[in-house]
Amino acid sequence: MSSVLITGANRGIGLELTRQFLKAGDQVFACCRSPEQATELSAIADKNLTLLKLDVTSETDLKTIQKQLLNTPLDIVINSAGVVGPGQELSEMTYADWQRVMQTNVAGPAMLTQALLDNLRAGQDRKLMYLSSGLASIATNTSGGQLVYRASKTAVNSLVKSLSIELADEQFTVAALDPGWVKTDMGGPNATTSAEDSARGLISRIRELTPSESGCFVNYRGESREW
Ligand SMILES: NC(=O)c1ccc[n+]([C@@H]2O[C@H](COP(=O)([O-])OP(=O)(O)OC[C@H]3O[C@@H](n4cnc5c(N)ncnc54)[C@H](OP(=O)(O)O)[C@@H]3O)[C@@H](O)[C@H]2O)c1
Repeated sequence: MSSVLITGANRGIGLELTRQFLKAGDQVFACCRSPEQATELSAIADKNLTLLKLDVTSETDLKTIQKQLLNTPLDIVINSAGVVGPGQELSEMTYADWQRVMQTNVAGPAMLTQALLDNLRAGQDRKLMYLSSGLASIATNTSGGQLVYRASKTAVNSLVKSLSIELADEQFTVAALDPGWVKTDMGGPNATTSAEDSARGLISRIRELTPSESGCFVNYRGESREW
């Protein structure tokens, strides 16, 4: 049984990851901004589920969660919380859009990593997982667009690479995971992959990754993505 902490666990991919880890008998610390409004998450009756309040941009929430998890070993931390918009394009983006997206998608996971390192050191697997995106890839960007979101996910990949180097001596496994184009509020109804299939693939990848593959960028099917 693994002990797994997931951000953005109240909907989308984070919720589906939570469901599937619980079904497999793992212990899940499911984080969301508003536990009292997280109806689908709260409806899951499982003794291995703990709900925690976490807005990844809130220093107060981060400090509280650190206290709540003091001396609690964690095997896997999955950074799923993320935002896209609204202002994505060159003609419409504002400072506020940049601030919100970079703070949520990049600073949030980075600060959570700092806060939970000792919990991971006390665990078995030492796995730090970050939901990236195909749009993070500079090498395969042929269309432009979604400037703000793309830049944020490219920054996540940079974070993954640096952490994999810094934490290599301690046998951490750090990875950037592309979940595919997923039918969630973010992916929309035309997306090609269900949240169930994406989460199933992501969990297989997370379980099979080892420290020797740390610093990788892979999709939910296990295919390497170009940086
Ligand atoms: N769906 C796709 O096609 C796709 C493709 C590539 C990558 N991704 C990435 O996969 C991850 C999950 O995406 P998704 O499709 O599940 O998105 P989603 O359905 O829009 O869900 C986003 C989740 O992030 C949470 N969140 C947003 N801001 C937060 C904050 N400041 N603090 C804590 N939680 C916050 C949301 O909570 P609230 O309910 O409180 O807003 C929600 O739980 C994201 O990182 C996304 O960039 C998704």
